[in-house]
Amino acid sequence: MPLLADWLLRHSVVMCLLLHSLVLMTFCFHHAATTCSKRCYCSESETGGKTVRCSNLQLTEIPEDIPNDTRRVYLDFNLFTTIPTNAFASLTNLIELDLSHNELNLLEPGAFRGLGSSLQFLDLSSNKLINLNPAAFEGLRARANLTNNHWHCDCKLQRAVLRVDLEPASLAGIVCQTSDPKEMGVEGRAFLLEPDIDLCVMMKRTTDVAMLVVMFGWFTMVISYLVYYVRANQEDARRHLEYLKSLPSRQGKSEDSSTISTVV
Ligand SMILES: *[C@@H]1O[C@H](CO)[C@@H](O)[C@H](O)[C@H]1NC(C)=O
Ligand SMILES: *[C@@H]1O[C@H](CO)[C@@H](O)[C@H](O)[C@H]1NC(C)=O
Repeated sequence: MPLLADWLLRHSVVMCLLLHSLVLMTFCFHHAATTCSKRCYCSESETGGKTVRCSNLQLTEIPEDIPNDTRRVYLDFNLFTTIPTNAFASLTNLIELDLSHNELNLLEPGAFRGLGSSLQFLDLSSNKLINLNPAAFEGLRARANLTNNHWHCDCKLQRAVLRVDLEPASLAGIVCQTSDPKEMGVEGRAFLLEPDIDLCVMMKRTTDVAMLVVMFGWFTMVISYLVYYVRANQEDARRHLEYLKSLPSRQGKSEDSSTISTVV
């Protein structure tokens, strides 16, 4: 017995180190198991499912290693400028996607493809979106937070909204930073919620005016041509008249000569 105790005592340091590394290794494995994405922090709850947090990591590209059973993804406070086509196509269980506080100015067509049946909330607030591209939101019925972007309100945006399936309440977030036409006073307002403001009617009016100007131009051209034509013809007619006037005398002369000849 004392022999064993002695042996244990002598090797306790080694044992301790071994135990320590074993603990470290299990911790590491455990960590690897929960760090589902290389740079992101992952957690899992019985009720909420898997959550992946990649907030504030200076990311410029969407991580490709987010597990396909993830329910919530937080990608806020990064440096994304665009969302490419099919960026989240494998995440068919996603119910919440947070892309707020980035530099987003472009959502490519099909950017959220594959999320249509599951996604409930999409946060795009505090980005640099200018135009609403309906092709980016194809099939998406989620509620979206679109506030605090650089929205440029014009007829194109007004028409785009008709082709977007997002929950209608989402439109409240589209507050105009700039607008065309400018004089409509929609800047600083969520004009899509005001049914009496129609930027397309304004555009129709301006195209009407353009048409009118073009038609007036044509009309002036036709009139001036007519005037010119009439004037030129008048000159011709006058010359013709003069010619005609000069004819009877000549005819008289010839008649004279003929009578003379018959007389002769
Ligand atoms: C997730 O991906 C694995 C393989 O990587 C696949 O077997 C599984 O069916 C996928 N699950 C879903 C919900 O797409
Ligand atoms: C939308 O985002 C803004 C800014 O990020 C936040 O203040 C606001 O509460 C959000 N709105 C909703 C409905 O989540």
